[in-house]
Amino acid sequence: MSAGKGFPEGFFWGGATAANQFEGGWDADGKGPSVIDQLTCSRDFAERFAGVGDYYPSHIGIDFYHRYKEDIALFAEMGFRMFRMSIAWTRIFPNGDELEPNEAGLAFYDDVFDELAKYGIEPLVTISHFEMPQYLVDHYGGWRNRKLIGFFERYATTLFERYQGKVNYWLTFNEINMATFLPQISIGSKAEAGESQEEVMYQALHHQFVASALATKAARAIDPENRIGCMIAYAPVYPLSAKPEDVWSAQRKEEEKLFFSDVHARGYYPPSKLAYFATKGINVTFEQGDEEILAAHTVDFISFSYYASSAASFAQSGVPGEGNALMGEKNPYLAESEWGWQVDPLGLRVALNTFHSRYQLPLMVVENGLGAVDEIVDGEIHDDYRISYLRDHVKAMRDAIVLDGVDLVAYTSWGCIDLVSAGTGEMAKRYGYIHVDRNNDGSGSLDRLKKDSFYWYQKAIASNGEDL
Ligand code: BG6
Repeated sequence: MSAGKGFPEGFFWGGATAANQFEGGWDADGKGPSVIDQLTCSRDFAERFAGVGDYYPSHIGIDFYHRYKEDIALFAEMGFRMFRMSIAWTRIFPNGDELEPNEAGLAFYDDVFDELAKYGIEPLVTISHFEMPQYLVDHYGGWRNRKLIGFFERYATTLFERYQGKVNYWLTFNEINMATFLPQISIGSKAEAGESQEEVMYQALHHQFVASALATKAARAIDPENRIGCMIAYAPVYPLSAKPEDVWSAQRKEEEKLFFSDVHARGYYPPSKLAYFATKGINVTFEQGDEEILAAHTVDFISFSYYASSAASFAQSGVPGEGNALMGEKNPYLAESEWGWQVDPLGLRVALNTFHSRYQLPLMVVENGLGAVDEIVDGEIHDDYRISYLRDHVKAMRDAIVLDGVDLVAYTSWGCIDLVSAGTGEMAKRYGYIHVDRNNDGSGSLDRLKKDSFYWYQKAIASNGEDL
């Protein structure tokens, strides 16, 4: 793809979702419970993960399980060319370690893919999006256990065989780097007394990297048309000041994130990570053959989520390499959403350039958007704040394509239809072009309503990103 005047012909405009955040039907037709089905709704992470309260938002979600035809028709009306969704592992293998898949689960996704095909919408399927079987946590200790590689490989192979010809674009693990921030739903593993949580996490991640490479191998063997990508939660890290220590802290935090895409795209652990392991005494067991597997089956494209940028100072991060996953210091130059996420469209252009110059692989922005409270006035939702956020981010992507030569092939904004928040379980944190009548306590008719942003996106897509 060469640089031109705007978004390339055939650019994949669309929206993104995840099974556990919108399907509902959490125990329908043989589905087993996943890690996220145990979580309640609260802005307090500890409460949510402890299951305080008796409302479990993933259980009904927004009921896509029963309303997928209506929803896909709305996506088609907006002009979607790509729809990002995930498959619930527990619909296919309810416990995760079975030898045979659950036919009813497979059939559901057949129906969804057939419905998308009716409108010419290309599915982009995440194989694991924070929804591993709870059974694998309870009986195997989650991803720290090497057996999960085999279970995942069987699951992924089942999908590639079943959906051959229906799905060509796959992501293995959603936001694989979120293991540092949300280990409960990402790797399902925790340290026992006397163990280091960091070592357990890196071992679990190593298993995910190997599983991802083996899935990539299987996908290509089953259908050479398959394209496999990784998915990184990305927020560029700016130094809070020009103080060399702040610049250094920002650079180290940046390296921490890019470690994940390095392994997926280059096929080996970067020297900086090996040096970090050595300094910290972290021992990650590589079995014989692992290095070759990682090297042989790297990804075809890089995908990432982008909501906000972050900033780092030496004062806050202290020793380089430590600190939280995404959000750092508050950047005094940026406004923030009600949930404290700092809005920075130029940061998306920075992100695209970072990935492009590092890997020179096609890129997909598979999550982006503004979580905001919407108000219905006389049966309408005038969400200009959302339109303004999206418009500025689309412009930043166009600049990256036209002015910087970035090879961007898809944009699937997050939560194209209102869905349950991954972080808090809330419905009030809405991202959608389509409103869903559902509240934080589970009340509401589940009726769908088009917001002003629905018509804006429809126009943006019809003009291939020109009429914003
Ligand atoms: C990403 C996840 O972290 O951000 C999504 O891949 C999530 O699952 C999205 O929903 C937005 O976060 P939140 O907490 O606002 O839902």
